[in-house]
Amino acid sequence: MKSAYFLVAFALLAFASSFVSAYDPSPLQDFCVAINDTKNGVFVNGKFCKDRELVVANDFFFPGLDEPGNTSNAVGSAVTPVSVEQLLGLNTLGVSLARIDFAPYGGLNAPHTHPRGTEILVVQEGTLYVGFVSSNQDGNRLFTKVLNKGDVFVFPIGLIHFQLNIGKTPAVALSALSSQNPGTITIADALFGSNPAIKPDVLTKAFMLEPNVVKYLQSRF
Ligand SMILES: *[C@@H]1O[C@H](CO)[C@@H](O)[C@H](O)[C@H]1NC(C)=O
Ligand SMILES: *[C@@H]1O[C@H](CO)[C@@H](O)[C@H](O)[C@H]1NC(C)=O
Repeated sequence: MKSAYFLVAFALLAFASSFVSAYDPSPLQDFCVAINDTKNGVFVNGKFCKDRELVVANDFFFPGLDEPGNTSNAVGSAVTPVSVEQLLGLNTLGVSLARIDFAPYGGLNAPHTHPRGTEILVVQEGTLYVGFVSSNQDGNRLFTKVLNKGDVFVFPIGLIHFQLNIGKTPAVALSALSSQNPGTITIADALFGSNPAIKPDVLTKAFMLEPNVVKYLQSRF
């Protein structure tokens, strides 16, 4: 009798788990190359499709990802995205790509999240210290790794993550993301450089800082 209950419970669990496992949405057609001029339309979701008769190979093509990004900036890194904005043929397909360049001695892709995409990164040159932090419910655990050429790391969708060049040479990574438009929220920029600025009382309490420190940080963005 007991084992019968167990079997029923097991079958129900297996049945239920088929509902909770996620899958990529179907694009519903072979392709839907986005168009950028939507003067006579309503923006609903994603992009409008180009007339399929007019679709050409170049709609699926993006050249020049061999070119390094310019890392002469405050953080010493540059992201070159190839999302649906740059490659219109990605529309509805659920993937995109980015090249990330890092200056030697500390080039940083600052802590950020992609609200709509998991990221899988492969190091092409150099040595990176990478990591992500799990959610509050999971205790904000930090998962880090030092990556060398050829190493791959994955950053789960929505979690705050970063990459730091700990080598003496420039570093390069390629990232694939599970969205045509993964979005990026850079934590420091969003909180201290928002437009208009967040009321300092919010940030002094949230970060346990003196008001003048918050004002200073806000002035830096
Ligand atoms: C890189 O960016 C810096 C700062 O904006 C600029 O001065 C420099 O000319 C740029 N270099 C190249 C090769 O574009
Ligand atoms: C589409 O429009 C966006 C926003 O105006 C622009 O940044 C992007 O370069 C355009 N993409 C193409 C492939 O023309």
